[in-house]
Amino acid sequence: MGQVLLTDPSAVRQSLLADAALEYGASGLAGDGVPLGTIAAAVGTPAFVYLANPIRRRYQAFVEAFAGIPHQIHYAVKANGNLAVLRLFRDLGAGADIVSGGEMARCLAAGFAPERIVFSGVGKTRGELEAAVAAGIGCIHVESIEELAVVAGLSRPDRPVPVGLRINPDVTTDTHPHISTGHAGIKFGIPTDLIPDAVRIIRDTPGLVLTTIASHLGSQLLDVRPIAEAARTITSLASSLRAAGVGPIEAVDLGGGLGIRYSTEQPPEPADLAAAVVPIVKASGFALHLEPGRALVGSAGVLLTRVLYRKRAGGKTFVVVDAGMTELARPSKYGAWHEVVEVVPREGAEEEADLVGPICETGDFLALGRQLPPVEPNDLLAILGCGAYGFVMGSTYNSRPRSPEVLVDAGRWGVVRPRESVAALMEGEVADPFASGEPS
Ligand code: LLP
Repeated sequence: MGQVLLTDPSAVRQSLLADAALEYGASGLAGDGVPLGTIAAAVGTPAFVYLANPIRRRYQAFVEAFAGIPHQIHYAVKANGNLAVLRLFRDLGAGADIVSGGEMARCLAAGFAPERIVFSGVGKTRGELEAAVAAGIGCIHVESIEELAVVAGLSRPDRPVPVGLRINPDVTTDTHPHISTGHAGIKFGIPTDLIPDAVRIIRDTPGLVLTTIASHLGSQLLDVRPIAEAARTITSLASSLRAAGVGPIEAVDLGGGLGIRYSTEQPPEPADLAAAVVPIVKASGFALHLEPGRALVGSAGVLLTRVLYRKRAGGKTFVVVDAGMTELARPSKYGAWHEVVEVVPREGAEEEADLVGPICETGDFLALGRQLPPVEPNDLLAILGCGAYGFVMGSTYNSRPRSPEVLVDAGRWGVVRPRESVAALMEGEVADPFASGEPS
């Protein structure tokens, strides 16, 4: 916003590398002084590398942008739940936004105080809700009247449960339909016409404390205006509930969703989001909660992969690499663009090619019809923008062990998750459950 649109491919690449704090040096592409080639040589490929400093910088940008009002940032753990990333956010003073018992366990293991965790999600099980109540989670964002009734059943007047109502504000966004979550007719949130039912349950249940009115419109949003529209809707709802004596409502929560640059996009900065929503929320006196994920970690991670083969077929060139949809699902799942750069540049002309993985599906690709740098087998490539929704959306399809994850910080690097072993993949499996002859 307010910036020059980048269209020249090398300018785009330069700006993406800057977002990730990566630079070409004597040993090729390096992050914080650590050559990516060194990491790949040590841990093998495919491998995810995260950079601590750009994550810290993005977090600070949010904190500075919203300094004018009481606010809390709950990092959306689903974007990247590695314990080292979570610890980084805890140390920065962030809270966490979780969507499962598994993410709760991760956050507690990383040292988050339970009261700094909010629990979102449309399908929390009774077991997960019980665990959240027992742990003293800061706020459970309920997404239906039915879920609210379950939480009411778990609360007691002597053990009050803080809840938020996630509203579906019926706002449309310009993002991919699979990650757009704030319009009517989808599974997320409580439609506003059902709010009176929710209020009835809250009034009738002394152990339920309504602290938050929340919404989340979708992900990779490139326009803040729909978020401002949602801010108006939920702030005015929160104000009228407060006036009716329902509460004590302390905060409105606008969820996450701020987009990042993957190619030529000009995503809004945290300051642009603040300019759009702070005046609305400030006037109400409520605190503002946010749940950014991608905007904090997305640019700060790369996937390292090695070229296996260059082959020609059907008049096209295919560059076959050792990472695919099992490591990075976004291209095949959403048609997402991730920039591809060479780690050690070689002389020669770019070539149009499909960058494909080893998985036995035609839909297994990282880039289609892309101008790729000149590459030969064994060359190392870095796929940019893999800090969010990368490793966490991976799978072990084709019995492929999960990749290692590495954190680079202050010129040092450390493995924060080793490569999974094939033995670990088979752990717990039983080849012949009837070997004893006794039916179980
Ligand atoms: N809060 C809630 C309630 C959410 O559902 C989400 C994301 C977030 C916060 C964080 O959104 P972010 O700031 O990261 O946009 N797998 C997709 C993205 C799915 C996002 C789901 N919800 C992708 O790879 O693009």
